[in-house]
Amino acid sequence: MLSSDTLLNGIKTDSFGRKTYTFATIDSTNSCARVLAGCWAEEGTVVYADEQTAGRGRLGRTWTAAAGENLTFSVILRPAILPGQINLLPLVAALGVARGIETCCGISVQCKWPNDILLNGRKIAGILLEGSVTERVQFVVAGIGVNVNQTVFPEEIRARATSIGRETGVSVDRPALFRAVLESFEHEYRAALSTNFRDVLPRWLTYAPMIGRKISLRHESFEVHGLVSGISKDGGLIVSSEGKERTYLAGDVTITDLEPYAAHN
Ligand code: BTN
Repeated sequence: MLSSDTLLNGIKTDSFGRKTYTFATIDSTNSCARVLAGCWAEEGTVVYADEQTAGRGRLGRTWTAAAGENLTFSVILRPAILPGQINLLPLVAALGVARGIETCCGISVQCKWPNDILLNGRKIAGILLEGSVTERVQFVVAGIGVNVNQTVFPEEIRARATSIGRETGVSVDRPALFRAVLESFEHEYRAALSTNFRDVLPRWLTYAPMIGRKISLRHESFEVHGLVSGISKDGGLIVSSEGKERTYLAGDVTITDLEPYAAHN
């Protein structure tokens, strides 16, 4: 198991990871972090596990990751933002994870709305944000799963998922990547909060060339086919379909036109 000393060795963050709980095995780092957040754990507290037995993904899915080959961790956030701004946090987290991976691994990745990270068109990282929101945001837990060195994937996700190591042919130093992602996430988060999210959308769009692309968006029992016409100020996906524009705040997007999804550079 990776110890906190190994994970945090030389980390350059102010608060992210300063308090880190590490587990060999846990049900879900997000579940644990939510309990800690409810007990007033401070902002930046991290829960890390080498293995999750009940890892959770977006839209009620499970997140499976081979033990000891990947990164699965959660960060507690206490942003002083309005509840209406909460859908911008997935984009901030995606920017942080994308930049951290690029810096550490020397590769170019893409983002897919709202917060998947893709390499060569396949998913290498996912982010699950869960929060407690009343009239204000009490806390948000950002759960991050990065497929780092795993080479074999379950049949049902094999076509869509890959890992950094599998794509590059190079084994990635997991603690170094953990630190790079935390440093970059903290930087993006602080910048977003201090500027009232001013640069988040344009910056995220440089990683996510989705505008004008044909997509299908699925959520629960509905599916819409259309063209992406933009991202709304509050982080929703604007889809134009049958002459009407609608904004969606959740869903699973598949890009359905034939052009390859362009690499960020
Ligand atoms: C997704 O793409 O569906 C989001 C996946 C998020 C997975 C991470 S792994 C660490 C944290 N703990 C969880 O149970 N889920 C998130």
